[in-house]
Amino acid sequence: MGDSAITTRGLCKDYGSGNGVFDLDLEVARGEIFGFLGPNGAGKSTTLRLLLDLIRPSAGTATVLGFDSVRDSLELRRQVGFLPGELALYPRLTGRAMLAHLAALRGGVDPRVRERLAARLEAVLDRPIRELSTGNRQKLGLIQAFMHEPQLLILDEPIAGLDPLVQASFHELLREVRAAGATVLLSSHTLAEVERVTDRLAILREGRLVVVDSVSNLRSVAVASLEIEFGAPVDPGQFRGLPGVLDVQAAGPLLTVSFEGSADAVLKAAAAHEVRAIHPREDDLEEIFLRYYRSGSA
Ligand SMILES: Nc1ncnc2c1ncn2[C@@H]1O[C@H](COP(=O)(O)OP(=O)(O)OP(=O)(O)O)[C@@H](O)[C@H]1O
Ligand SMILES: [Mg+2]
Repeated sequence: MGDSAITTRGLCKDYGSGNGVFDLDLEVARGEIFGFLGPNGAGKSTTLRLLLDLIRPSAGTATVLGFDSVRDSLELRRQVGFLPGELALYPRLTGRAMLAHLAALRGGVDPRVRERLAARLEAVLDRPIRELSTGNRQKLGLIQAFMHEPQLLILDEPIAGLDPLVQASFHELLREVRAAGATVLLSSHTLAEVERVTDRLAILREGRLVVVDSVSNLRSVAVASLEIEFGAPVDPGQFRGLPGVLDVQAAGPLLTVSFEGSADAVLKAAAAHEVRAIHPREDDLEEIFLRYYRSGSA
């Protein structure tokens, strides 16, 4: 109990018609980066809002850093950094003015931490927020979540909207706060987006937790897919019989090959032809979840 940053017991938010989250028993250990995955409408944001007492549970409890989410919500929010999914900022203020305002409300925020975060994420601080691009607004959201150096960060889709270089800086930041002992819970739609930074993952489906496991266990059942663009159409039959290959789809010179295990056989077969480009395809969470159960990992 003392070791977990977040514990929920039978946590429910019932919106009716089967919408919401149901019977959630979740345990996030102190010091881990925990990924919360699920498709649109799965209940990720609802869960994160319940943890911060922004909405009230229909049943069950959540304990966050030892605080009851409902009874001790003020103290809890003081100690947590939160990035909401639908970020509402002050459109007329500059980023710098908005952050200074939020810092004054919190109290005890070191302005140097804020400036360091802004530099690392290459945030735009001197323009009115309404003039900023989506990604640059997201950076302000991240800075306000991290600026008081909280022990726990709850981040709703932090990576959405960030370009690849900023994503890399953000990942580095997550690793640093973990090294300093903080805990991070972050939501996402895809395994690919979070697998490099998270220790463990949960998959939420229609409001229910269906998988909680380490990234490596989930990765081992996930199917990899490559889109290979050839110089000319290639016979898909050459790929169908290869070891590990599960499916091959052809569309003109573009072949999509899904396989488990090593990519070696697929790449060697592809190399016999002119290859213009190779792109990894995003994993399908539903497929990962189904294979996870079939493989008996659960
Ligand atoms: N205030 C509300 N009133 C009624 N239903 C709601 C409310 N908020 C969310 N829902 C419903 O609860 C379910 C879960 O929504 P939630 O926003 O938690 O999903 P999500 O996993 O965050 O999805 P996304 O990936 O699209 O952000 C959805 O079916 C949604 O329509
Ligand atoms: Mg959401």
